[in-house]
Amino acid sequence: MSEANLLLSHNEGVATLTINRPTKLNALNKETLDELGDRLQELREDPAVRAIIITGNGEKAFVAGADISQFPTMDRRSGQALARHGQAIFNKIEQMPKPVIAAVNGFALGGGCELAMACHFRIASQKALFGQPEINLGIIPGYGGTQRLPRLIGKEKALYLLLTGDHLTAEDALKAGLVDRVVPAEELMNSAGALAAKLAAKAPLAVGYILQAVYQGADRELDEALDLEADLFGDSFDTEDMKEGTTAFLEKRKPQFKGK
Ligand code: COA
Repeated sequence: MSEANLLLSHNEGVATLTINRPTKLNALNKETLDELGDRLQELREDPAVRAIIITGNGEKAFVAGADISQFPTMDRRSGQALARHGQAIFNKIEQMPKPVIAAVNGFALGGGCELAMACHFRIASQKALFGQPEINLGIIPGYGGTQRLPRLIGKEKALYLLLTGDHLTAEDALKAGLVDRVVPAEELMNSAGALAAKLAAKAPLAVGYILQAVYQGADRELDEALDLEADLFGDSFDTEDMKEGTTAFLEKRKPQFKGK
């Protein structure tokens, strides 16, 4: 554990990253965003880490957005650079070859909603609130919100949220398809932990191939996407874990996957 803007803890293959600026509702300032990028890179490279949970510290917020205090002095060029920087870090999450779960404990607004959407799974506390309120500041989302939100919930519902800046309750987010599950606040971390532990027990390389096939395939024509699947299917046969998984099945025992 560190005392920084970001806390990191490990538990049996599951790493938990906690955004830690509760007095600012975990708003993402530059330092926090940079730390997030650095930690994600380390977690990607650490073979002991097989699943990641991202959450926010405190009762109130997951992340209440990018830190607005940096905005008034910014211009076109610095705005574009900030968007590119945030997008690159959130892409790191989406492209992580290990499952990343957002445990959304409160406000997930602006960059917070975008952070949750870049994760592979979203579990929300009943207290969570989602939204893209940038319009109320005279700006637009810059960390993927105008692109991932319509892809997740459809163009019309996304436009409504983007143009009104309205908040969505956890239950409404569930109905819209923005979150996968809603649980009582006190069960949030157990629920995210149980999913993470379940995924961490699977064959790590195959998990990575599935994430790659689904995310990269979604942007391709079906023929090309099926080529990608065939390649990755082949790659999975080149692993020790394939031998272990299939042998364990035939020997009627539980497989011990090593990520090799
Ligand atoms: N950037 C910087 N600071 C933020 C912030 C953000 N995105 N969101 C909250 N804060 C800060 C507040 O300025 C306040 O700081 P202070 O105590 O030093 O004054 C502190 O966090 C608590 O927020 P506060 O507004 O007092 O809490 P609230 O319960 O009244 O309202 C929200 C909660 C989330 C509705 C409100 O903070 C808000 O609208 N935040 C901005 C959301 C947003 O527009 N996000 C997109 C940014 S691009």
